[in-house]
Amino acid sequence: MAEFGSDDGTAVRRDRFSGGPARGFVSSLSADERIFAADVAVDRAHVVMLAEQDILDDATAGKILTALNVVEVEGHGALPEGEDVHEAIETAVIEQVGPEGGKMHTARSRNDEVATCIRHRLRDDLLDAAEAVCDLRAALLAGATEHADTVMPGFTHLQHAQPTTVGHYLLSYEQALARDFERLVDAFQRVNRSPLGAAAFAGTPFDVDRERTADLLGFDGVVTNSMDAAAARDFLVESASALATLATTLSGLAEDVVLFANQGYLALSDDYSSTSSIMPQKKNPDTFELVRSVAGDASGSLTGLLTTLKGLPRAYNRDLQNATPHVWASVDAVTEAAVVAAGGVATAEWQVGTLAEAAGSNFSTATGVADLLAMAGVPFRTAHEILATAAELAAADGRDPDYEAVDEAASTVLDGSLSAYVDRDAVEAALDPAESVAMRDSAGGPAPDAVTDQVTEADARLSTDESVVDGLRESIDESHERLTTTVTDYV
Ligand code: ARG
Repeated sequence: MAEFGSDDGTAVRRDRFSGGPARGFVSSLSADERIFAADVAVDRAHVVMLAEQDILDDATAGKILTALNVVEVEGHGALPEGEDVHEAIETAVIEQVGPEGGKMHTARSRNDEVATCIRHRLRDDLLDAAEAVCDLRAALLAGATEHADTVMPGFTHLQHAQPTTVGHYLLSYEQALARDFERLVDAFQRVNRSPLGAAAFAGTPFDVDRERTADLLGFDGVVTNSMDAAAARDFLVESASALATLATTLSGLAEDVVLFANQGYLALSDDYSSTSSIMPQKKNPDTFELVRSVAGDASGSLTGLLTTLKGLPRAYNRDLQNATPHVWASVDAVTEAAVVAAGGVATAEWQVGTLAEAAGSNFSTATGVADLLAMAGVPFRTAHEILATAAELAAADGRDPDYEAVDEAASTVLDGSLSAYVDRDAVEAALDPAESVAMRDSAGGPAPDAVTDQVTEADARLSTDESVVDGLRESIDESHERLTTTVTDYV
């Protein structure tokens, strides 16, 4: 029998496998700091369950749980050597309790243990990401409320297309982020299942109560099949995918902000800008450029994860150890990007005058005038031709299209005159960017009234989503308390 409680940290290892030149390569101990607290919780829940099931006597359970309290207080940095955090914590327990401490690992394997720890930790991280998304949505909605009627140019192909409102623009990202939020919470639901009790993959002859450990750890049920429970990492893929999708949304917003800052549509706060080490006048949108770049990291994490998982045979392979850090990297980077984007959006100042001027340039009201003619009975295709001709006429003269240009174009395209369909005032109104926007009051459109309606709806949806996150956090917190109280009965 191996010596227990030895100083070399090999209490749980057979000497034959306690070292070797690849020791560092195989070890995940430092990366496992992330799941240190989760592992302590998983160990506690497992030991409590073993005692409740009479697999472990209460006195030994008490000693192990007391040792785990010490491990928790001393922290990850004080752990003895080990291939990973699971082994190191077990060694630390055995060092305190003696050989009986080795009973902690009855009826389980590191395979179900690590899968449980990752899920336990990832739940919190996903909720942090979801909360950051909510905060960004709140910042966008505040801007949309303030700028429901601030006219700005809207773009397709990065060309001035039709005037819109800042409120409408901001709401477009709020709505996309509401879906990103849904994807994170949806991933959370499947992350929040316990694999514990699967053992290596093949179950255990001990009469374990898997529902009990799941409940003590705040999971919403178990991953039933023990082979699936040990092997499954699709919960990581879903999380990384939701994060990459969110990062892609953030990158679009960041790109717009960089362009808008360039055009003088938006003034970023100094707090979210940087300068040049050589060009003293420069104010650069570095924070948003970095937000934009995070989509690269997040999609790299997703690709790295999928490529690591591809073709892995059942049931456990050590490749899985390298799969997890992709998700930690992604969730940290994307959550931070969402937080920074929220701050940057909340403190940016929309330049109302510049926006109004830009909104009227490049004949971006042409579609609105064509719509006006179509509403008066001109076939839309004919109206489109009239306005295209007006654009050409004005461009040839080097002037902004006005009523005269539209009238002249109409006379070349229509049999009758323009005034047979619409009066001059109506055309001039449609040529005005603010009037043009106000006309487009269809549901979800840019007209100030439509924006206000969308803000009301989005505010309500955001409150519901915020309470979803609060509810999930509360139930996790309650499970921590339940576990702590249950442990107290033994120590
Ligand atoms: N550190 C390992 C991981 O992250 C724990 C599982 C080790 N299991 C094994 N069969 N070697 O996957």
